[in-house]
Amino acid sequence: MSKSCTIEIAQPAARMHPPVPAPVAILREIVRRYGTPTYAYDIGRIKTQVARLREHLPPQVEVLYSLKANASLGLCGVLAECGLGADVASAGELVTAIAAGFPPERIFLTGPDKSPAVLSELRSLSDGAIDPSCGSGVTLSLDSVSELQLFASQDRLHRALLRLRPDFCSYASCSAGPDSRFGLTLEDLPQCRGFLDAAGVQVVGFHVFAGSQVLAADGVRHHLRSGLDQALRAADLLGIAPEIIDIGGGFGIPYGPLDQEFDLAQVADQMRTLVHKAAPARLAIELGRYFVAQAGWYLTSVLGQQTHLGRKAVVVDGGTHQRGDLCGLDLRHKAFAPVPLEVRSGALEPTDVLGCLSLPSDVLVESGMLPPLAPKDVLAFPNAGAYGLYASSCLFHCHPPPAEVAFEADRLALFRVREPIHSVLKSQILSRNAGLGSGEGT
Ligand SMILES: Cc1ncc(COP(=O)(O)O)c(C=O)c1O
Repeated sequence: MSKSCTIEIAQPAARMHPPVPAPVAILREIVRRYGTPTYAYDIGRIKTQVARLREHLPPQVEVLYSLKANASLGLCGVLAECGLGADVASAGELVTAIAAGFPPERIFLTGPDKSPAVLSELRSLSDGAIDPSCGSGVTLSLDSVSELQLFASQDRLHRALLRLRPDFCSYASCSAGPDSRFGLTLEDLPQCRGFLDAAGVQVVGFHVFAGSQVLAADGVRHHLRSGLDQALRAADLLGIAPEIIDIGGGFGIPYGPLDQEFDLAQVADQMRTLVHKAAPARLAIELGRYFVAQAGWYLTSVLGQQTHLGRKAVVVDGGTHQRGDLCGLDLRHKAFAPVPLEVRSGALEPTDVLGCLSLPSDVLVESGMLPPLAPKDVLAFPNAGAYGLYASSCLFHCHPPPAEVAFEADRLALFRVREPIHSVLKSQILSRNAGLGSGEGT
């Protein structure tokens, strides 16, 4: 929660939340065919989550999938086919979204990366457009006056939202309130006026994002309502009639037994009110983990046994370098224990699961209640579909990335091939071949 919160948000009493049931048979088959470490994605679960959201939200709301949660091309293809738009934050995510089939007109490019690589991709899109004078089709979210200035001076037209730094408190676990670095402040707004009629940019609305992983429906309702209010005030101040207002999202998912289930119905109720308040502007929301987190399983094999801090421990062939979601949310303490895919008799005991890195902090589970484990046993980590592989420090220790496999009912599809160990040398140039070897020096 951000420091400046003054409103009491009712936190429903914590209750034991059941873990997502593990589809053990299909996960075993994935390990048999593709080995470990591997990410496995349950496509049926993603489709159900999208359908649930669509059932609840008013149809006018544009729903974007935030690729930062998981930019796996195969997974993005599924979400594009589900009819979502895309929220991208880099040139790499932009090309992934296009390759996955999201139409440029449904893509929002947010975040502070407005690098030459991003500009060049936008230019290629507008060159390929049926009417290049309309630009790339992508809607940009501009974070600062200097970004507005940059696009105002372009020779192609760009549709853009002004991102506003929330002037209200954030209840998010990953908070983006008034103390966040993103977006324009109220004091910045008057400076925007001079660019509103520029040739290179057409300001079509606003964007406000107050943070991520909010489980209390009241917290999300506060973010969405306050975001819209702030956007409407900014519109008045600048004399803009907004076409679209992206009010963020931040819908959380229960990672552990003490996390509550997010109450979508309550939030949907409020969205109906906000849709009317915003009209004729349309509302957009951007969600990542809500769609994909619970669909993901991270599969690792036990390499050996040892002790850690006086407890039983096992070392696995994966680690924190492939599970970025362990940064920030303290999941190793609060998440559901991984599910062993082999059935073993014996009492559950507090066990630590250690990754294979030479790093003291490479701990995937602390005191998880697990049965006795032996080398080659496989552990399946639930809720691993968001901010796992795509938020990780994958190059550490020169491990190739894990494989990615999708399943739907009993069908399997390979989304990312496991690269051989020697692939870590790909695209690198040895010093002597790069002109720095002995005899080549100055
Ligand atoms: C601007 C913005 N939009 C969307 C998201 C996606 O959040 P989540 O995956 O929790 O839905 C984030 C996450 O940090 C973000 O910073």
